[in-house]
Amino acid sequence: MFSPGLFSLVLASFLISPSFSATLTSSSQLSTLEYDYIIIGAGTAGLTLANRLTENPKVTVLVIEAGVSDEGVVPAIAPFLGPTLTPNTPYDWNYTVVAQDGMLGRSFSYPRGRLLGGSSSANYLIHQFGTDEDWNRFGSVTGDSGWSWKNMQQYVQKHEKFISVTEDGRNTSDEFIPSLHGFNGQVSVSLGGIAQPIDDRILATTKQLPSDFPFNQDLSGGSHSIIGLGYLQSTVGGGVRSSSSTSYLANANSRPNLKVLINYTVTKLLQSRTTAGQKAFRNVQFTASPGTGPLLTAKARKEVILSAGSLNTPQILQLSGIGNSGDLAKFKIPVLVSNPNVGSNLRDHVFLPNIFNVAGQGSFDDLIRQPDLINAAVGEWIASKTGVIANNFINFFGFSRVPSNNPIFKSVADPAPGPKSPHWEIIPTNFWINPGIPQPSSGNFLTLVTALLSTTSRGTVKIRSTNPFDKPLIDPKFLTTAFDITAMRESVKGALRFVKAPAWADYGVIPFGPLATVSSDNDIDNYVRSLATSIFHPVGTASMTKASSSNGVVNPDLTVKGTDGLRVVDASVFPFIPSTHTQGPVYLLAERAADIIKSCAN
Ligand SMILES: Cc1cc2nc3c(=O)[nH]c(=O)nc-3n(C[C@H](O)[C@H](O)[C@H](O)COP(=O)(O)OP(=O)(O)OC[C@H]3O[C@@H](n4cnc5c(N)ncnc54)[C@H](O)[C@@H]3O)c2cc1C
Ligand SMILES: *[C@@H]1O[C@H](CO)[C@@H](O)[C@H](O)[C@H]1NC(C)=O
Ligand SMILES: *[C@@H]1O[C@H](CO)[C@@H](O)[C@H](O)[C@H]1NC(C)=O
Ligand SMILES: *[C@@H]1O[C@H](CO)[C@@H](O)[C@H](O)[C@H]1NC(C)=O
Repeated sequence: MFSPGLFSLVLASFLISPSFSATLTSSSQLSTLEYDYIIIGAGTAGLTLANRLTENPKVTVLVIEAGVSDEGVVPAIAPFLGPTLTPNTPYDWNYTVVAQDGMLGRSFSYPRGRLLGGSSSANYLIHQFGTDEDWNRFGSVTGDSGWSWKNMQQYVQKHEKFISVTEDGRNTSDEFIPSLHGFNGQVSVSLGGIAQPIDDRILATTKQLPSDFPFNQDLSGGSHSIIGLGYLQSTVGGGVRSSSSTSYLANANSRPNLKVLINYTVTKLLQSRTTAGQKAFRNVQFTASPGTGPLLTAKARKEVILSAGSLNTPQILQLSGIGNSGDLAKFKIPVLVSNPNVGSNLRDHVFLPNIFNVAGQGSFDDLIRQPDLINAAVGEWIASKTGVIANNFINFFGFSRVPSNNPIFKSVADPAPGPKSPHWEIIPTNFWINPGIPQPSSGNFLTLVTALLSTTSRGTVKIRSTNPFDKPLIDPKFLTTAFDITAMRESVKGALRFVKAPAWADYGVIPFGPLATVSSDNDIDNYVRSLATSIFHPVGTASMTKASSSNGVVNPDLTVKGTDGLRVVDASVFPFIPSTHTQGPVYLLAERAADIIKSCAN
């Protein structure tokens, strides 16, 4: 998202070779190819599970990860530099979406982390849990109350290590609600450590426009409404990123019963046998990552767990003969389990950068465009893990709903899971953001990113060949429903109202580029379709449904329908998209999945 030059600059000098003891870089380092559990993907969910399952020293686990180590990779460690890690780097899968009908036929980058920690090592560090309404809907559509918030909230304590002390040592008691958080879990979560020049104006806006953007003391979710604007919480501790690798894996690293093989790609699952009408898939075929080495097979005594993420999990299922029989027939893949839902129901949040030119000084634009400034800041971070680089690039965010009297609700049922859950998000950002379009060489900017959260468009992920190294065809079908474009239009109007608050009067805020010329609803819709991309939260491609339902891909216990010995544990199982950023919901999901798997083993 920042300039590619910045990425090469910060990457060049700091690469260090991996030293995690559980992490192996050659299959020849494995003394056996048979384990109790094989986890595919050392990502957000995969490493959470790996930690929990190996708490029992008698249980052996092999994790196979296509990407490389995150150790010493500065942009994966330094919070502010997170956005330089993607797209199109050695740490990205380099995916793109197919031409989007709802976006004037545009195609664009669709990053996914390809390193230890998966997307938790490559994301923008924003941390929330989903609302209780999101989780209660998962509970009701799956018929398993274990997914409802009453049960899920216990996992906040296991997962989160909230740090209330900030770098600047300010009194944070009005900036979060302690009862909503865990303080002794695995992943560090903290508030922004230093103020930004726009912070006071943002806070004043919540007082001046209280019906639009009321102050909300905690936006993490759970039982507390997330409508309103407040302080951002990030997966950062001590000035460095906290990912599933630096937390769950680091804390399990010395266990001899855990092996994590990196730089090896799983190519497909092999059917092992058929028991009681269920086809067992306990064998995993894999090879060294560029795909040139020999094919190897690892065997799970108990289960194979797919944690390859919302794009690669359906790809691996389809390559293995589990999917839409028509699609598989095109590639002459024998259909082992016919299920048209594999790779369907793809949903994502839409991202829109509303850019304003500002007369006010002190934006991050100069920091990003001037090598001497960024070098000095990176130098400070290396020396003391403090300063701008030690923090997320935003301090505030907010959530809003389409008013209930909007005519759209005459024809469309409200897609949000309840009144405490938003339809759209606003992220005030102190510089130029416009994915794929370089920052102008001068000027200060304010970008009010808005995002669609309660997405109703549904897309697909499909293999394009039998080659596991071919990128899947990803079609989120962004903005193809009346609700989705309506909510985005409302978000643009909201952003334009935001900067009309008196707090911005002397900041010289002028809409930039195409935003400057929109007036009618039709203009706004065209502007949205011409500029929007993704905020990288794909879910739903292996959706969970009731055990009795033939729709969906997994049962409420996350076992793949029609199979034995195979589960999916990652963002692809969410049947609806959470109303928040998705890493927190994935962590909670994986924590409960570990408990479900442990209870089956007894
Ligand atoms: C650029 C970006 C920014 C984001 N920003 C935020 C944010 O600020 N806040 C937030 O909450 N969420 C954010 N997200 C989303 C969030 O990170 C994801 O929803 C979440 O991490 C997904 O977890 P997962 O376990 O499903 O998949 P992942 O964490 O992506 O893990 C999948 C793992 O499987 C590996 N893998 C895939 N295929 C294979 C194979 N064939 N063989 C072996 N290994 C394989 C991958 O390399 C990866 O390590 C962002 C995502 C991206 C990409
Ligand atoms: C992604 O692109 C980068 C930069 O071109 C390259 O180094 C990397 O190998 C690519 N990764 C994949 C999985 O294609
Ligand atoms: C922090 O602020 C709160 C409320 O504003 C106040 O009650 C509390 O005493 C303050 N704590 C300290 C240590 O100053
Ligand atoms: C990954 O493995 C391949 C094949 O063994 C090797 O050529 C490549 O250098 C390895 N990459 C890393 C980053 O270890």
